[in-house]
Amino acid sequence: MVTYAAAKPDPKRTPGIIPLHGEDGFEGMRKAGALAAQALDMLYEFAQPGVTTAELDRRALEFALDNNAVPATLNYRGYRHSICTSINHVVCHGIPNEKPLKNGDIVNIDITLIVDGWHGDTSRMFPIGDISRKAERLIEVTYESLDRALAIAKPGNTTGDIGHAIQSFAEAERCGVVRDFVGHGLGRLFHDEPNILHFGDPGTGPELKAGMIFTIEPMINLGRPDVKVLGDGWTAVTRDRTLSAQCEHSIGITEHGCEIFTQSPNGLFNPLEARR
Ligand code: MF3
Ligand code: CO
Ligand code: CO
Repeated sequence: MVTYAAAKPDPKRTPGIIPLHGEDGFEGMRKAGALAAQALDMLYEFAQPGVTTAELDRRALEFALDNNAVPATLNYRGYRHSICTSINHVVCHGIPNEKPLKNGDIVNIDITLIVDGWHGDTSRMFPIGDISRKAERLIEVTYESLDRALAIAKPGNTTGDIGHAIQSFAEAERCGVVRDFVGHGLGRLFHDEPNILHFGDPGTGPELKAGMIFTIEPMINLGRPDVKVLGDGWTAVTRDRTLSAQCEHSIGITEHGCEIFTQSPNGLFNPLEARR
């Protein structure tokens, strides 16, 4: 499995130790998460046929700098952009370019903004014009899998319960769950402990405790789970070239559940609900 930890751990990351954050961490994450969500809301009206992902990237950078934030991906391990734009069969880490979006494309835009040292990481799907019924169904399954995970993200449950909630639902819908990329702890670090697998068995993995802060970011394919990374070293695509979708929230575990730091202020997180 390719995890950031395996690739090259952040020197400030302590393997096996899951940080527990206090009110200052939650307050920092609220600000960073809200700004990242606001950035995606801002991009909503621009994600149209004919617009390039490079233009969306420029708008994201401008938005960040205007709001005293820095995109965490800019110069991160050689990545040179403020967002990832993953189109159709691209699973994640698509690199913005000068190719116009086409009617019917489905695009995941993933942004992480650093505000006062805290990382707000979120992604959603942007349907471009009119999309196919099967693309719509994939987006529905992906969002419901995240919803089911959020509903059980509470003290006493484990990271494996989160993975199982996503996998059991997505596979019952005959979709494939990507194994090669995982959710992650975050805070002052971009990628910290724990790894949040989007598959797994109930009761396995670390127990969730109030104060843990991490992302859940399932990548769901219409076909097989297998991915390959293209020659640019970033772009991950489905091996069978079927469509892939993803959505991501940054959350903090509370006494009785979780707080979602990256809610859309304008109700635009789920594009199918936003359009209704
Ligand atoms: N935001 C992505 C995540 O959800 C990470 C992107 S790293 C990049 O963890 F370098 F590809 F941008
Ligand atoms: Co993430
Ligand atoms: Co992200």
